Amino acid sequence: MNAMMSAVATPSKVVSQVMQAAVFRAYGEPEVLVVEERARPVPAAGEVLVRVHAALASIGDHHVITGKPYAIRLTPYGGLPGPKNVVPGQCFSGVVEALGAKVNTVKVGEAVFGQKSHGAFAEYVVIRAELVVEKPKNASFEEAAALPWGATALDGFRVAGLKPGQRVLVNGASGAVGTWAVQVAKAKGAHVTAVCSARNQALVRSLGADEVLDYAVEDFVKGGARFDVVFDLVGNRTNAECKSVLLPKGTWIPCFGGGNDWVGPMGRIIGAFISFMFSGKKVGQFVTSPNRENFVQLKELVEAGKAKPVIERVYSLGEVVQALTHVGEGHVRGQQVVRIAG
Ligand SMILES: NC(=O)c1ccc[n+]([C@@H]2O[C@H](COP(=O)([O-])OP(=O)(O)OC[C@H]3O[C@@H](n4cnc5c(N)ncnc54)[C@H](OP(=O)(O)O)[C@@H]3O)[C@@H](O)[C@H]2O)c1
Repeated sequence: MNAMMSAVATPSKVVSQVMQAAVFRAYGEPEVLVVEERARPVPAAGEVLVRVHAALASIGDHHVITGKPYAIRLTPYGGLPGPKNVVPGQCFSGVVEALGAKVNTVKVGEAVFGQKSHGAFAEYVVIRAELVVEKPKNASFEEAAALPWGATALDGFRVAGLKPGQRVLVNGASGAVGTWAVQVAKAKGAHVTAVCSARNQALVRSLGADEVLDYAVEDFVKGGARFDVVFDLVGNRTNAECKSVLLPKGTWIPCFGGGNDWVGPMGRIIGAFISFMFSGKKVGQFVTSPNRENFVQLKELVEAGKAKPVIERVYSLGEVVQALTHVGEGHVRGQQVVRIAG
C-alpha cells in the first residue's frame, strides 16, 4: 500500500496519516510555496502533536522563505544549499492531538499556542511540550496564533529595562510588532508616543498610545521630544538621529530589516554600538527566540484585557502566498493569520 495514503486504526478512531502543508524546496519569493500532501509528523519523547487551527504569516517567515538576509541560511531556520525544513511557519495555535513519551505538562484535547522554527503551515505540527502554552480563554484560535510575535515587544522592553512612567517612542507602531509594542509599553506603565501613517492613527490610539504622530507630516527627530526608550521597527533614521532623541541613559532598540542581502542591518547596528560608546546611551540589540516564559506573560496580558492581537486579515492555507506577499510589502496593519482547521 502507498505509505502516504495509509491509515492506522486507534482504539477510538481511524486517523489519516497524511496532511496538507505549504512546502518550499528552493528559496525565493512567496510564490515558491505550494500546498501539497505530506506525511503527518509523529511526536518523539518530550514532544506533542498539535492539530493546527491557525498559523501566523510573519516577516520572520518571509525571511525564511526568501532566504534573505543570506545569514539566515546558516541558522536552524534555513539550510544550505536549500531549505532544510521544507514546511515553514513558526507561530501557531491548535488542539493537542497526541503526546510523545514523558510528556505530562499538557493534555490531549487542550487548546494551545506556541512557536518553533518551522512546520506551522500544516494541518499538524510536532513541538517540544514546553513550547506550547494553554490558549487564552478570551482569544480565538486566529488571535492565539498571533500571540508569540508579541514576545519581541517583551524582549525589547526587557533589554531596555523599561520602568513605569518612562517615555517610549514606537516607530512603526501599526505593524505586527508595533501593535504589540504600544500595548506592552502601556501595560508596563509607560507614556507612549506612536509613529504611524494617517490611515492607522485611530487604530494605534485605540491600543492606548498617548500621542500619535503621522510620519508623513510630523518628524519625531525634529519635534523636540526626548525619550527613555525608542523602539525602532522601521530604521528610516540615521544612528545619530536616533541617539539625538534619547534622554540621557536612554535606549534605542533597533528592531528592523533592510541593510544588505548578506547580514541585513547588522553592519549598521555594529556601527551604532561604536557611535553610542561613551554617550551614556545604550543600543538594545536582541533576537527573540521561542520562550515559554514570554508566552505565559502574553497569555496573562491578553486574559487581563491589557493587550490583544490586531489581526488585519485571515487567509486560507491556499492563500498563504498572498499572506506572505502582503507581509513582504512592508505595509501590514497588525498581523496576518492563516486559518488551517476549524
Ligand atoms: N530582533 C528580533 O528578534 C525581531 C523579531 C521580530 C521582528 N523583528 C523585526 O521587526 C521589524 C518590524 O516587523 P513587523 O512585523 O512589525 O512588520 P513591518 O512590515 O516592518 O511593519 C510594517 C509597519 O510599519 C509601518 N511603517 C512603514 N514605514 C513607516 C515609517 N516611515 N514610519 C512609521 N511607520 C512606518 C507600516 O505602516 P504604513 O503601511 O501605514 O506605512 C506598517 O504598519 C521587522 O524588520 C522584523 O524583521 C525583529
